[in-house]
Amino acid sequence: MESRAAKWIDVSGFADPELASDLLFEAGATGLEEPEGTTGVLRGWFSLDATVDLAALGLQVVGTGTVDARDWDLSWRLQQEPIHVTKRLVVVPPWVPAPEGTEFTLVMEAKQAFGTGGHESTRLAALVLERLPLAGRRVFDLGAGTGILGFYARLLGAAHIDLCDIDADALPCLEENANVNKITCWNAWAGSIDAMDRKPLWDVVFANMLRTEFEPLRDETLARMTPGAHLVLSGYLVSERERMMEWFSRAHLELDFEETEGEWWAAAVRKTSD
Ligand SMILES: C[S@@+](CC[C@H](N)C(=O)[O-])C[C@H]1O[C@@H](n2cnc3c(N)ncnc32)[C@H](O)[C@@H]1O
Repeated sequence: MESRAAKWIDVSGFADPELASDLLFEAGATGLEEPEGTTGVLRGWFSLDATVDLAALGLQVVGTGTVDARDWDLSWRLQQEPIHVTKRLVVVPPWVPAPEGTEFTLVMEAKQAFGTGGHESTRLAALVLERLPLAGRRVFDLGAGTGILGFYARLLGAAHIDLCDIDADALPCLEENANVNKITCWNAWAGSIDAMDRKPLWDVVFANMLRTEFEPLRDETLARMTPGAHLVLSGYLVSERERMMEWFSRAHLELDFEETEGEWWAAAVRKTSD
């Protein structure tokens, strides 16, 4: 099994642990833990070459370190447990059995890609997906990470899944997760949406990424959606909702569903004109 070295950064002195977790994820953490024997400390795991400025996010750094490839692998193995993403979907690492009675299970190893369902933005996107008509649809997971959303859409009946991520580390992870879950009818590439022709391709597109990451991709995305297609957006704060509603109105997108968890917001909108 391939594995790579990684670094960890410990932060402390925060008033709200949930907000601190969100900030660590926003800064690019691929996993979090509370280091054994500590209180009030959160450890974020990052790829070795990640540039991270946690002080700029108001977090107080109290320790840093790196682990070699073997320890990195071990650290994932020790900390992962079943993740109840929604009432219907559970994600388990390969060495943990799925809880009995689970309707849908995805077996996933995160490695250094984002997305085992522990983050609110993934959970909200999965909830929105469950409400969409997916049977027979061609869908696109933009910023796929582990592929959790794309592969879940396939389990929910989508006919074909395209997935991409600008992080080249995500691709081997996507391939492994597709194989382990016996997912067929999928296609993935390292890169972004511009790798595909600018013509209507997808009936459903989901983009779970920060607003600032998706904004430059808006027009490119709409141009590749079929008439009446759905766009699922997650990774937004509730405070960004109004701003998004204004864009929906300008772009002829009709709000179909929305979900919130804490300060996070996700929505499904429908393309009403070409
Ligand atoms: C918050 S993670 C979401 C991962 C997974 N889809 C999930 O829902 O858990 C956002 C992902 O988008 C990717 N990303 C950011 N900008 C991108 C772009 N312009 N094109 C493709 N992927 C991008 C990042 O590398 C990251 O893996």
